Amino acid sequence: MGQTVFIPRELDANEPRVAASPETVKRLVGLGFEVIVEKGAGLGSRIPDLDFASAGGAIGAAADARKADVVLKVRRPTDAELKGYKSGAAVIAIMDPYGNDAAVAAMAKAGVTAFSMEFMPRITRAQSMDVLSSQANLAGYQAVIDAAAEYDRALPMMMTAAGTVPAARAFIMGVGVAGLQAIATARRLGAVVTATDVRPAVKEQVQSLGAKFLAVEDEEFKAAETAGGYAKEMSKEYQATQAALTAEHIAKQDIVITTALIPGRPAPKLVSAAMVASMRPGSVIVDLAVERGGNVEGAVPGKVVTTENGVKIVGHLNVPGRVAASASLLYAKNLYAFLETMVDKAAKELAIKRDDELVKATMLTDGGKVVHPNFANAAEAPRTEPAAIPATFLVADAADKKPTPKKKSAAKPKGTV
Ligand code: NAI
Repeated sequence: MGQTVFIPRELDANEPRVAASPETVKRLVGLGFEVIVEKGAGLGSRIPDLDFASAGGAIGAAADARKADVVLKVRRPTDAELKGYKSGAAVIAIMDPYGNDAAVAAMAKAGVTAFSMEFMPRITRAQSMDVLSSQANLAGYQAVIDAAAEYDRALPMMMTAAGTVPAARAFIMGVGVAGLQAIATARRLGAVVTATDVRPAVKEQVQSLGAKFLAVEDEEFKAAETAGGYAKEMSKEYQATQAALTAEHIAKQDIVITTALIPGRPAPKLVSAAMVASMRPGSVIVDLAVERGGNVEGAVPGKVVTTENGVKIVGHLNVPGRVAASASLLYAKNLYAFLETMVDKAAKELAIKRDDELVKATMLTDGGKVVHPNFANAAEAPRTEPAAIPATFLVADAADKKPTPKKKSAAKPKGTV
């Protein structure tokens, strides 16, 4: 009798994604698992039960979680869900553990071995398991689609017998995975695209996508990337110079999409209320960082706000979930790729290698304890301290010997457009 993998229907009303696809169910069966998919689990992602069944999965109920050796999820299990799992089960999901110490402690108490997919190291071997990339890429695409839907003009330039429609001007702030896809999507739709970021490595990538790069390129900018490729929090002085440069630019934009994040910190505030007020009526701002504190003043999580001067600020939650049918396929593949590394293929059973770097980086709880170093205190009283920096990011920071200059940047913003 093989071990069982269970895929539940996500309980969160704002979560249409599912942690398996017919393709991954088929592969899991191929690895020797019995796979049970909760009835209706795929409906939010347009996957009917029949497709899971044809792939070799059994269609079950929530109570089947009790049989599972492995639970594949999108979101961290609730206390009620945990009660339905057997002690020792492996649970793999986007755990969102920062600031949620009590929930992490609850997983330890339930005896599950919980893995936080967002802690997957960004190394070549784990690229196929990188949920942050697979989901951010789609979020960047969807941000442009959402902007276009709110914008009551056409994006491409159209020269017609009845006159010319000018191309929309789109400005992408923050050019990580989401920002790059936003640039590519806005370009495909015919917008004139500019972009900014604090990491110098981005400049070439922006230009290679046919967009123009705008940034304060001082000494601090040149040292603004960690060895891990992430942004550092910029000095107050840099932020002020950056704001001065972008303020003038934003006033001329039709669409602004912000994606700026700093690991383990609140999102940087990049667009002030005054900048929003400087935009023309009908302009659209999409704040993809809204769930992490927001890049835009006045953005409201889960809402589309129209300001007094007629600018729309879009703050949709769970943007990858807005393109769920695509997002689930990629997410399911990420989870499968990780789970496969923890399977003994000869014995056809789960064999978690606790000294593997992928396991060490992602394992939150195990054997009744919180085992991740970043949550050493999670088993104690729940606390609400600011988020610490994830271990994977700390490693990158420690390896980066370049100090961030605290010096005041040049008085005049040196920008390139
Ligand atoms: P992220 O989601 O952490 O941040 C988004 C962007 O915001 C980043 O480009 C960051 O530099 C930018 N940002 C932060 N503060 C800013 C500010 N004040 N003004 C303007 N922009 C600001 O980044 P993401 O998407 O996770 O990518 C981070 C890096 O990791 C990139 O270099 C990416 O190419 C790299 N990466 C590497 C992978 C690998 O397997 N090696 C996989 C995926 C990404």
